[in-house]
Amino acid sequence: MPDPAANRPQPSPDAIQDLLRVAFAAAELAHSPYSKIKVGAALMSTDGQVFAGCNVENASYSLTLCAERVAAVKAISAGVTRFESIAIASSLDSPMMPCGACRQFLTEFAPDLFVVVQGKSGPRFQARLGGLLPHAFGPRDLD
Ligand code: THU
Repeated sequence: MPDPAANRPQPSPDAIQDLLRVAFAAAELAHSPYSKIKVGAALMSTDGQVFAGCNVENASYSLTLCAERVAAVKAISAGVTRFESIAIASSLDSPMMPCGACRQFLTEFAPDLFVVVQGKSGPRFQARLGGLLPHAFGPRDLD
């Protein structure tokens, strides 16, 4: 099956850098007394707005919210539902990949989302969301 995002331009290196900067700043606001891992996400809409989120843990561990979904819910609840790219930054050395639940959650709104992931050091990971969640279940499956 052809990749619908294959011909889409990806964000410029400067745009990626800017988005990562917002994600790293958001990570500083993490509430993560249990894992001690700080995660930040910066989600850019198709009209250039950026929504930031951090992970928010809870003493009842399973209630923990990931940074990506916090950013997405902030945007969606502000009436913004179309997205271009997301940067995910963490306090870990290597890139902290978005969990399966976040991949599914974001697929609902932006199956072609450009995803960039960066840890404190080491390699930067870049991919389209469709490549991270192939053959995804989505709204069309309910038609
Ligand atoms: N976390 C995220 O914020 N995003 C992910 O995609 C994976 C995990 C957070 C949740 C928890 O606070 C910590 O990282 C460890 O799982």
